Amino acid sequence: MGKFIQMKTAFPGPKSRDLVARKEKVVLDALSLHAPIGIAEARGALITDIDGNTYIDLTGGLGCMNVGHSAPEVVKAVQDAVGRFSHTDFSVIPYEPYIELGERLLAKAPIAGPKKIGFFNSGAEAIENAVKIAKAYTGKKGLIAFEGSFHGRTLLTMSLTSKVKPYKKGFGPFASDVYRLPYPNVYRKPYRDMSDEDYGRLMAAKLEEAFLTYASPDEVAAVILEPQQGEGGFIVPPKSFIQGIREITSKHKVLLIVDEIQTGFGRTGQFFGIEHFGVEPDLITIGKSIAVGLPLSGVIGRKEIMDAPGDSSIGGTYVGNPVCCAAGNAVMEIMDRDGLTKRAIHLGELYRARFGAMAEKFKVIGDIRGLGAMIGVEFVRDRQSREPAPEIVNKLMPGAMERGVLTVKCGVYGNVLRILAPLVITDEQVNEAFDVLELVLGEIV
Ligand SMILES: Cc1ncc(COP(=O)(O)O)c(C=O)c1O
Repeated sequence: MGKFIQMKTAFPGPKSRDLVARKEKVVLDALSLHAPIGIAEARGALITDIDGNTYIDLTGGLGCMNVGHSAPEVVKAVQDAVGRFSHTDFSVIPYEPYIELGERLLAKAPIAGPKKIGFFNSGAEAIENAVKIAKAYTGKKGLIAFEGSFHGRTLLTMSLTSKVKPYKKGFGPFASDVYRLPYPNVYRKPYRDMSDEDYGRLMAAKLEEAFLTYASPDEVAAVILEPQQGEGGFIVPPKSFIQGIREITSKHKVLLIVDEIQTGFGRTGQFFGIEHFGVEPDLITIGKSIAVGLPLSGVIGRKEIMDAPGDSSIGGTYVGNPVCCAAGNAVMEIMDRDGLTKRAIHLGELYRARFGAMAEKFKVIGDIRGLGAMIGVEFVRDRQSREPAPEIVNKLMPGAMERGVLTVKCGVYGNVLRILAPLVITDEQVNEAFDVLELVLGEIV
């Protein structure tokens, strides 16, 4: 028990156990559960389950809750909106909250000159549409994506995604004309003596080679990348890599699509993660924290690119739902009013300080990395070999959960603990949660 964590029953409690047993009878097994509990309610960075146990949430609904759970302004905006009307299909009858949210987001987008936006439902759907828009504008069909990337689970986005299990195995054949290049991971770079920036340049140059070995740039519509890989292991590329990719894509008239679905909305200490790299993308995809997990996503891009697809060729029944847009407008107000993008920098420093102190004690912590509050910790068997140690994360997460701290992992080896806590988490809550992580880690290693 702490000031925030309240574990009132054995873990999981009896009501949660019953709920999970019912779930197992009716819901397909592939939707396997991370936490064997049922949620009753959530506020800020705290989640209370149906047995009355309260947890500190470092998962933020997988990065959707940057403004925190159940922020009163969002709740009110959603209630007001749904009380007026819940749906028209924007292309049948438009409504103001969609346009207002578009104006707010375009004002923040790191793209010079005229730009436009379109809203969709999920992150994957935003990527699908960014690709359609890129194809319409360029008249080309090829796509280049990176190893370790995650862009979604639909046929095209699964084809772009680069993690075999659980996302791809058994689900082929995949979309054609998708080519893959390695993404620089400075912790695992093959030449340890090489500077990170030289390594970044070397890896970017592989794009020039790909235009000789995989596909002519005349046939490639876009390169798509995450400015910090999420699912792939919270990997931050060197600045020279992103800048090199931008130079080469511009030279060959290939578009650069930046997937900000996990990195956006202040998570990295800039509103968009790409702002750390000083380059302008052609298209940006957004999702997750845009509307606190209500189904909303979007594509932002240069006007002439966004306007390339033909009349009525982009859309969907629910896209840009008015209730979700109302939530999005409330999110934007909270982000600005409470300076949450700036707070992400402070939180990142706090996470790094706490993990840094743990690393002095526990030699299994190989790397602490990430931009702003998007911090991951890579666990290894030893620091010399850097052999991945997923078994530590696999014990740490349930151990922490039993003691009231909810976490998630990532990485192609499954050995990275990632922090996606709401940006409204208090310092006191961070410290209480990290005390638990430290305690559990001490018991494991
Ligand atoms: C970087 C990135 N792109 C795309 C997606 C897919 O988003 P969705 O699950 O909403 O389809 C995710 C989801 O985790 C993501 O992290």
